Amino acid sequence: RVVYCANEFVPEEKARIGLFDRGFLFGDAAYEVTAVLGGRMIDNDLHLARFARSLTELSIPLPMPLDRIVEIQRELIARNNLMEGAVYLQVSRGEADREFLYAADLTPTFVAFTQAKALRDTKAQRNGVAVDIAPDPRWARRDIKTAMLLGQVMAKREARARGFDDVWFVENGTVTEGASSTAFIIPDDRRIVTRANSHATLPGCTRRALMRLCEAQGLVVEERSFSLAEAQSAVEAFQTSASSFVTPVVRIGETLLGGGEPGPLTRKLQAYYLDAAG
Ligand code: PDD
Repeated sequence: RVVYCANEFVPEEKARIGLFDRGFLFGDAAYEVTAVLGGRMIDNDLHLARFARSLTELSIPLPMPLDRIVEIQRELIARNNLMEGAVYLQVSRGEADREFLYAADLTPTFVAFTQAKALRDTKAQRNGVAVDIAPDPRWARRDIKTAMLLGQVMAKREARARGFDDVWFVENGTVTEGASSTAFIIPDDRRIVTRANSHATLPGCTRRALMRLCEAQGLVVEERSFSLAEAQSAVEAFQTSASSFVTPVVRIGETLLGGGEPGPLTRKLQAYYLDAAG
C-alpha cells in the first residue's frame, strides 16, 4: 500500500512519524474517515468541512488547502486501486519535546492512507447488530473528532467480551451515541429520532446525508435527546457511520427490538442511502 506521510507518497513500510509527535504522546490530533465505493468518495465535502472545524477548535493549522487534501485522497485511491473501503486523514499538532503547553510555531504532521474493506451487504447490515450499554467514558468535547479514542477502544472491547457487536453510550439516562456511530431510534412506524448536534456527540456526516434523504422522502426526523428506556421500547433502531452506512440495531442491552430482526423503515433507509451513494 502507498500512503501519504511527511509530505510524500511512500510505501507503508517507509512511512515514519517522529517519537515526539504530539499525536503519539498526547492524542493531540484530529482525523477523518471517508467511505469509498466504486473508487468514489462518499459525502467527502461533509467530512472535509468537519475536519477543518475539528482543527480550528483545536487551534491546529490546516496543513494545506482542502482542495489539495482532496487531490491527495484521490491519488491514494488511484495508486492503491481502491474500489471499496475508506480514506483516513489525520493531522497532529506536530513534533516538540514533551510539554503540555505547545509553541505556536509547530508544523502539523499530516498523514493519509487507504483501507480496503467491504462496506455493502455486510453481515451487520443484513442481520443487524446487538449493542451493549455503557456509561459514556469520554471528555466534554465529543464534537471534535480527535485521535484520543481510548474510551471507545476500551468500551468496544468490553462489549465484545460480553458478547455484543458494539456499544451505545448513555449519560444521565440519555443515549449520547454509538462508540463510533450516530444512534437513531424509530419510536413508532412514522418518526425517526436522533439526538441534536451539540458538544455531547460527534456531528455525523452520514447522519446529515441521511437526514437530507429523509426530508426528500417526506420522512420526519426529530432531532432530540432520547432516553435508554425510550430506545429499548422503540420498534426499530439503527446506527450510522462512514464505515457502516445504515446498520440495523436489533438488540439494546438485553432488550430485543422487532423480535431481533431489522425493521421495514430501517431497510428503506439502508436502500435510500446506498442508492444515493452508489
Ligand atoms: N467514526 N460518532 C462517533 C463517536 C464516531 O466515531 C463516528 C464515526 C460517528 C459517525 O460519523 P460519520 O457518519 O461522519 O462517520 C459518530 C469513524 C467512522 C471512525 O472513527 O472510524
